[in-house]
Amino acid sequence: MRHDHWAERMNPRVVVRGFEPEHLEDVVDIERSCFNTDAYSPSVFKSLWQRNPEGFLVAKKEGVAIGYIATTSLRGEAHLVSMAVVETERRRGVGTLMLKRAIRLMKRSRIHLLRLEVREDNQPAILFYHSHGFCAVGTKHSYYSDGGSALLMERKL
Ligand SMILES: CC(C)(COP(=O)(O)OP(=O)(O)OC[C@H]1O[C@@H](n2cnc3c(N)ncnc32)[C@H](O)[C@@H]1OP(=O)(O)O)[C@@H](O)C(=O)NCCC(=O)NCCS
Repeated sequence: MRHDHWAERMNPRVVVRGFEPEHLEDVVDIERSCFNTDAYSPSVFKSLWQRNPEGFLVAKKEGVAIGYIATTSLRGEAHLVSMAVVETERRRGVGTLMLKRAIRLMKRSRIHLLRLEVREDNQPAILFYHSHGFCAVGTKHSYYSDGGSALLMERKL
C-alpha cells in the first residue's frame, strides 16, 4: 500500500462534507482572510451552492469549517471557482483531501476537464495545483481588481 507522507500531519478529525448554509459564515471568513478585495460575497457562495450543490464541499474540524472548494460545471467541463484552507491548517493535506473528493464526484458525473484561474504571483497555490497534475495553459491579463494577472491552469480528469 502506498504511504501518504502527509498522513501523519493530517488531523484524523478533519472530514469533508457537502456545503450547507450553516457553513456560510465560516466559508466567507476564510475567503475574506485569503482574498481581501477579490473575495466573493456570501450571495455568490449561496448561488454557487444552489447551482451545483455537489460541487461545493467543506473540510470540517470539530464542527468548524476550515476549508472549502467551490466549483461549477457545464457540458462535461468544470471550473474551480474558489478554494482555500485556513492558514493554521495548511500543509496538512486538507486541500488535497477536498480536491480529491471533488474530482471523484466530478468523474462520477462524467466531467473530463477541470479548469481554474490563479493569481500569477500565488506561488503556494500554483505549486499545490502542479502537485495535483494541473498544467498552465495561458494567462489572463488584468484579471483581478488591482490589475493583477491570472494564470490559467487545467487538468484532464
Ligand atoms: C492552495 C491551498 C488551498 C493548499 O491547501 P493545503 O491544505 O495547504 O495543501 P496540501 O497540504 O494538501 O498540499 C499538497 C501539496 O501541495 C504543495 N503545496 C501546498 N502548499 C504549498 C506551499 N505553501 N509551498 C510549496 N508547496 C505547496 C505541496 O506539494 C504539498 O505537498 P507537501 O506538503 O507534502 O509538500 C492553501 O495554500 C490556501 O488556502 N491558500 C490560500 C488560498 C488560495 O490561494 N487558494 C487558491 C486560489 S486559486
